[in-house]
Amino acid sequence: MVKPMSIIHKIVRPDILAQTSYQVPPADGMVKLDAMENPYGLPAELKSELAAHLAGVALNRYPVPAYRELKNRIGRELGVPAGYDVVLGNGSDELITLLSVACSKPGAKVMAPVPTFVMYAISARLAGLEFVGVPLQADLSLNLPAMLLEIQLHRPALLFISNPNNPTGSWFDEGQLLQLVHAMTDIGLVIVDEAYQSFAPGSMMAHLPGYANLVVMRTVSKIGLAGLRLGYMAASGDILAEIDKVRPPYNVNVLTEAAAGFLLGHMSVFDQQARQICQQRTELMAELKKIHGVVVFPSEANFVLIRVADAEFIFNNLIKHKILVKNVGKMHALLANCLRVTVSTPDENKRFVDALLDALKPQPAP
Ligand SMILES: Cc1ncc(COP(=O)(O)O)c(C=O)c1O
Repeated sequence: MVKPMSIIHKIVRPDILAQTSYQVPPADGMVKLDAMENPYGLPAELKSELAAHLAGVALNRYPVPAYRELKNRIGRELGVPAGYDVVLGNGSDELITLLSVACSKPGAKVMAPVPTFVMYAISARLAGLEFVGVPLQADLSLNLPAMLLEIQLHRPALLFISNPNNPTGSWFDEGQLLQLVHAMTDIGLVIVDEAYQSFAPGSMMAHLPGYANLVVMRTVSKIGLAGLRLGYMAASGDILAEIDKVRPPYNVNVLTEAAAGFLLGHMSVFDQQARQICQQRTELMAELKKIHGVVVFPSEANFVLIRVADAEFIFNNLIKHKILVKNVGKMHALLANCLRVTVSTPDENKRFVDALLDALKPQPAP
């Protein structure tokens, strides 16, 4: 009899066998500054109202896959232009997968400036598409001439731009993005991923009517609802109709549907929290800039990228202080010795800065 392990090794694609699963480090008892979560919970009264609302949800029924009411609420509350609809995803992670699967024709390519959000490359490869990364400049700004050249060379079906960019925090201005959208006319879609839009100075949403190949993708994760797993993507009806064919019909569960529908009626709570986080970003960056040996990159997101002399050493030292950040130093040459730190409450930010100062102290000679 053939052992089960050998069967799985026979039938799974070699590139998947060679891959490791997405790693999420344990965070029990840690100050969690590694995943750009909003540190604030819901106000107590809103929590109680939400609980009562969710108690009325029929868990014995499948969702109605059109999700009409929730889509209308997203359209109304989150600035989707009139006449534009959205496709919903189980997080925007799922929307990235749907786009990649829908466009996975033989030889098709996905492009993004790099370093950027890792799921663009992972989803592309899983769907059998080639991923082409175009390096940012050394100051982590967009290399527009290189992007325009690579677009003509590779003619990608999909161009993902995270704006603000994860993990750099960089903000790419509207004029640059519109040049890329224009260059991609008749070539492919430009997906502007606005996961961090609540903390940023602008949005491409209002440009949708002007550009038939523009897609604007967002998530509720970073505003304070990461556990819900809800992303949305706005674009012209003919684009959404094709992507929707790839979507599993019940991809958003009834609890998420009900909770998001209810909570998006209280956007002022999340807007207020985002303003607080932006204020704390300013304060945190000012503190970090005072520290000798720390380079602070500009950020328009709810995290800050810093460079230190030895990211691995500082990361491990922060862990000893029960502070979890993300060591992105090995992700890309442009990020050598960089750490990404979520902006949190004044108390948690101070704990991080204090631990960082301690970690940076000269080590006694062995
Ligand atoms: C740029 C960007 N897009 C999308 C996502 C995924 O968001 P979601 O939680 O909606 O899957 C992230 C998560 O960190 C991100 O940084």
